[in-house]
Amino acid sequence: MPSKTEETFVNHLLAQMSLEEKLGQLNQVNPGSEFDPSVLREGKAGSLINASGALTGQGFSDSGSAELSNHFQKLALEARLKIPLLFGRDVIHGFRTVFPIPLAQAAAFDPDLAGQAASIAAREATASGIKWTFAPMLDIARDPRWGRVAEGNGEDPFLASQMARAVVKGFQGDDLSAPEKLIACAKHYVGYGAAEGGRDYENGEISEPTLRDVYLPPFHAAVKAGAGTLMSAFIDLNGIPATANRRLLTDVLRGEWGFDGFVVSDWESVKELIHHGVAEDEAHAACLALQAGLDMDMVSGVYLNTLGESLRQGKISMEEIDEAVRRILRIKHRAGLFDQPFTDPLRARRDLLTPEARNLARQFARQSMVLLKNDRDLLPLQGFRRILVAGPFVHARGELFGTWTPDGRTEDVTPLDEALRQTAPKDVELWFAEATDLALHLAHHADAVVLLLGEHPVRSGENCNVSDLGLPPGQAEFVQAMAALGKPLVLVVFAGRPLAITQQVSLADAVLYAWHPGIEGGAALGEILFGVEAPSGRLPITFPRATGQVPIYYNQKNSGRPVHPEGQFKTRYLDLPPSPLFPFGFGLTYTRFEYSNLRLSSDTLRGTLEISAEITNIGARPGAEVVQLYIRDLVGSLTRPIRELKGFQRVTLQPGESRCVSFTLREEDLAFTRADGTFGVEPGKFHVWVAPDSVSGLRGEFRL
Ligand code: GLC
Repeated sequence: MPSKTEETFVNHLLAQMSLEEKLGQLNQVNPGSEFDPSVLREGKAGSLINASGALTGQGFSDSGSAELSNHFQKLALEARLKIPLLFGRDVIHGFRTVFPIPLAQAAAFDPDLAGQAASIAAREATASGIKWTFAPMLDIARDPRWGRVAEGNGEDPFLASQMARAVVKGFQGDDLSAPEKLIACAKHYVGYGAAEGGRDYENGEISEPTLRDVYLPPFHAAVKAGAGTLMSAFIDLNGIPATANRRLLTDVLRGEWGFDGFVVSDWESVKELIHHGVAEDEAHAACLALQAGLDMDMVSGVYLNTLGESLRQGKISMEEIDEAVRRILRIKHRAGLFDQPFTDPLRARRDLLTPEARNLARQFARQSMVLLKNDRDLLPLQGFRRILVAGPFVHARGELFGTWTPDGRTEDVTPLDEALRQTAPKDVELWFAEATDLALHLAHHADAVVLLLGEHPVRSGENCNVSDLGLPPGQAEFVQAMAALGKPLVLVVFAGRPLAITQQVSLADAVLYAWHPGIEGGAALGEILFGVEAPSGRLPITFPRATGQVPIYYNQKNSGRPVHPEGQFKTRYLDLPPSPLFPFGFGLTYTRFEYSNLRLSSDTLRGTLEISAEITNIGARPGAEVVQLYIRDLVGSLTRPIRELKGFQRVTLQPGESRCVSFTLREEDLAFTRADGTFGVEPGKFHVWVAPDSVSGLRGEFRL
């Protein structure tokens, strides 16, 4: 909530501002090729986007982004009221130190790690003159055809909410005015992941209960964590574009949640209200968005160019303009910009790409990789003298970054083959082959084969949707040919989404999903392949057997004719089993865990209920297990999901070690949007699981 001092400062400044100066604050500009810096001197811009390293080509040095930002800031402070500019940039999963993509980060099931990574990204970005990032991206996604599934935290609202809280805190800290802290922007508000067909920018239909209980919770978590800003989504949600949706932008966000920051549109999404067909022209679009509660226009210019005339025509009020300006000034004040508008250029040399940052990136990459298959415990690779490593990723560098990494630099990345050489045991001879024919030739003389396949980052991210979730062309044939040789075969998949690798999984002995693991992905992969570390990631999103199985997700409703192996309804498709290839929460490691001794503190939940189970490492190696807590509300005024994640804990156990893992379930954890539209609980019977994934585990029962 705003402090008295903050409000006094903001209202005092607002009272001095002219209409033009107010409209300038609502306007974000992109200093592209035809950019005229005089707009800054004239107070016609409140924010700059992309003002950072990517523009150092304008004659600025390596740390030019700080000098560049300072250059633009000086111009802005020449304006009459000296209101500092807010520099924004997409710092989505790291700045110069590129961490695993957010979907991979979610696979680590370690929000604290994500918070640490966000804190490092904030330090690096602010050292480069950036004070505002357009992250975290919190769109729940149930359709991996959508390229932006890479940027979010998968299909589950509980996991995504935990990540949202940690990343906002990591970016912003407890004092947003600290020089190394970054204003967060929870995006894309809301429902963007429900775009039909997984096609970016398409419309989406979400029922109110699903909107409330699946898509909104991560944004609510971000707001509760103090996120300074949100960004509206490129989506026509139930017939109302998110950029002009007053119910969501004002009634829910401000009215229900008490959000006191500001909302920025997505790129030109104010102007795009015309394409959506809800605005006749730019002036109409600007009025609709402003009156809905959308405060800053990202680069379309329609606020700056039309709101003055709309005010004169009485189509909007000065109070509506003032409220948007107030919110922006409030966040600028909270970020300390009025006191410290400039960046110390010397910071960049000290704060970028530190050893600590690299180590965290490597740990994060290791923890995010998911072992999906490991027949005969082929991994970790041991006892093989000559190992062939083949496929299009053998020399990968920038390809490890993933989507949205404008400040990552290829030269910072150890090539994957070199990284594997550095981590392989000395008595192992590694051969590398990118071309298929060479690989097939060498494989005859190798003791084991590791194939590095998957999708290049150019196929991942915004507007990179695919109609077929199979591996990119040629790779399936490569796996088939290699498998025919009968050598022990490991498949490592790099991707920004779940791929339908059903056939490849059946052909390989071991499968490791590496996502796009970031700057230290090569070393992390080597440490896992050769057993220096064990994999511990778990799937944050369901893996379909085929594209045609989409949408498929774990927290689905039961239907009136549930699939039951022994029942009349055994399947949903004639040509596919009803289960996914791999379920949400699934992942293997180099040891095995036994779950026993499920205990509930009572058979009735009054206030809270303690649930515990004994987890034992019954293998010969240490390992980390992500113990998951699920519930099922068996009867509701609305149909309820067959499982809902309500907790998880990572535990590391030595061989033979047992640990009692316990969770506390509170009454409010069982609340949902009921048939009458209210949010709350309903008495009745519940199932509860302590489980290794969303389809197994020890089940108990209790009543509320
Ligand atoms: C893009 C994306 C958004 C990003 C913005 C600024 O279109 O949708 O996520 O933050 O533009 O780059």
